[in-house]
Amino acid sequence: MNPLTVTDKPSAPRPTVRVKALSVRDRRRLLVHFLALDSSDRLLRFGSTLPDELVTRYVEQMDFSRDRVFGVYSGRLRLIGVGHLAFAPREASPVLHNATLKERIAEFGVSVLPEARGLGVGSRLFERAAIHCRNEDVDTLYMHCLASNQTMIHIAAKAGMKIHRDYGEADAYLRLEPASPGTMLAEAMQEQFASLDYGFKANAKAALKWLRRLPGFRRK
Ligand SMILES: CC(C)(COP(=O)(O)OP(=O)(O)OC[C@H]1O[C@@H](n2cnc3c(N)ncnc32)[C@H](O)[C@@H]1OP(=O)(O)O)[C@@H](O)C(=O)NCCC(=O)NCCS
Repeated sequence: MNPLTVTDKPSAPRPTVRVKALSVRDRRRLLVHFLALDSSDRLLRFGSTLPDELVTRYVEQMDFSRDRVFGVYSGRLRLIGVGHLAFAPREASPVLHNATLKERIAEFGVSVLPEARGLGVGSRLFERAAIHCRNEDVDTLYMHCLASNQTMIHIAAKAGMKIHRDYGEADAYLRLEPASPGTMLAEAMQEQFASLDYGFKANAKAALKWLRRLPGFRRK
């Protein structure tokens, strides 16, 4: 079954993907998401086949006050996609040090559960991260991945990123335009729709849980 809410329109090529900003309250669901990635996905996502203990530590150490974490929920409130936008001072990156005059740069990492791939989730998470950077006065978005990661390189190239391949690894940079009233409004609206969507799914899930307790209730 499609893990996302599919639009009714027959012409809609892909399901609607709502990207929501996550908070410290979502840490448990984040952990479930990352632990569901197999070793080859962990290699692509983290650059190393992290064991469960290190994945757990990564999630525990996510800094929600400094970074931005975005998620896409399934109808059952499973996190099917996660994008982590980590902000760092420009000086922290020897490679990007001269690439910008802004105080901070941003590095993006993304993962989508296998059953939800190819539906535009990864691309929407990337787009949301880029618009958030613009609104945060960050003009350089960076991504590091294995050179063999054709899917990610395709998403990066589609977004206009400059890709530099070196010794089996690839660095991708995107120079972003400054924020505008349009980008501010777009992000606020995306968040509003995603919050409504989340509330709707949470209510539906709670209602189903309640119905299941009724004698004679059977789920089709
Ligand atoms: C990379 C990843 C996030 C993509 O997520 P996704 O939700 O499937 O991505 P989307 O559906 O938005 O887009 C996939 C695009 O790649 C294309 N694609 C798929 N396989 C491809 C391949 N082997 N070569 C080139 N392009 C490919 C799809 O056609 C699609 O392009 P389109 O939108 O132009 O049609 C997901 O595969 C993943 O989690 N991989 C493991 C972790 C990882 O690699 N993270 C990135 C490193 S930070």
